[in-house]
Amino acid sequence: MLKLSKLATAMALAAGALAVQAAEVEVLHYWTSGGEAKSVAELKKMLEAKGHKWKDFAVAGGGGDNAQTALKSRAVAGNPPAAAQVKGPAIQDWANEGMLANIDAVAKAEKWDDLLPKVVGDVMKSKGNYVAAPVNVHRVNWMWANPDVLKKAGVSGMPKTWDEFFVAADKIKKSGDVALAHGGQNWQDFTVFESVALGVGGAKYYNDALVKLDPKALQSPTTTKVLETFKKLKGYTDNASNGRDWNLTTAMVIQGKAGFQFMGDWAKGEFTAAGKKPGEGFLCAAAPGTANAYTFNVDSFILFKLKDAGAQKAQADLASAILSKEFQEVFNQNKGSIPVRLGHDMSKFDACAQLSAKDFVATAKSGGLVPSVAHGMAIKPAAEGSDQRHDQRLLE
Ligand code: GAL
Repeated sequence: MLKLSKLATAMALAAGALAVQAAEVEVLHYWTSGGEAKSVAELKKMLEAKGHKWKDFAVAGGGGDNAQTALKSRAVAGNPPAAAQVKGPAIQDWANEGMLANIDAVAKAEKWDDLLPKVVGDVMKSKGNYVAAPVNVHRVNWMWANPDVLKKAGVSGMPKTWDEFFVAADKIKKSGDVALAHGGQNWQDFTVFESVALGVGGAKYYNDALVKLDPKALQSPTTTKVLETFKKLKGYTDNASNGRDWNLTTAMVIQGKAGFQFMGDWAKGEFTAAGKKPGEGFLCAAAPGTANAYTFNVDSFILFKLKDAGAQKAQADLASAILSKEFQEVFNQNKGSIPVRLGHDMSKFDACAQLSAKDFVATAKSGGLVPSVAHGMAIKPAAEGSDQRHDQRLLE
């Protein structure tokens, strides 16, 4: 009898301990398209396997502008979520507000300094402490194509220069399909614009003009050429382009209604979710003129300071899951990106991802690795916004 009651007490204590450890984790993200939803579901699965409860705070809107607005209003109200999808220099803005949790304990135990490329690790830290966990590396300067549309138009192979692109696009237009699938939203315009700038001007011009905002580079004849090339693309888009979401735009290529799309490799998540394989159902290549360069875009989660011990444990478990080999493997295969962990075995990834991994390493050495401005990797959101308005004025 005594034994039994001791057992019951022990069980009750264990259950109590579990109750302190397990918590609800509210996660703000903007991964709502087909491929994205499949990817984020993996994170939820892994967190719930550790005994926590995932509270989804999904805010639709490509590029995450809507999500950042929602996050700001929750933070201002003093009620931030446990974790939020925030990246690049914006991480520092949140850290400077004193709102972020220090996740050094996990980072040290799991050797993040050794696991992550320095260029990534540095962005995840504030005053030397980790305050964000990176999930992936997206390449932005991609061109996607439907092989059947190209074939029907008599286009053989992916264009390597902008001149070649316009020749191919003319042929597709003539054969009755949309040459360029494009969603006319600010962030999508800017995504295409930076690939044009990189392709026309090269990595040094890109860095000088778009990252350093050097007036000499901005006022150079190269900028005129970039703007002319960018403007010319409009003539190859369809009338319904204005305001269209990026994934519906990718769907035009998937369904054979359009030839090309310029978009980061989250677009590959859509092709994959639709059961398409690279080389068969779709083609991938670096945007014209950018084969030796790489615009990187690293997604990450910041964790907010929370008082509850259970919530803190759940945050640590989330950070740990994000950098785990298992998560990096399955998440990135769905998402279209590559693992952020150095030296990850890429043998199960598709050919586009393998090219991305190879080019990431090669361009880091050659100087062709540049931050994506359109995706918040280079300058703080406020500066990026005013640049965008500047570009638009130039186009008017
Ligand atoms: C990017 C983000 C990606 C992707 C895309 C569309 O900025 O880094 O993860 O999902 O926006 O929303």
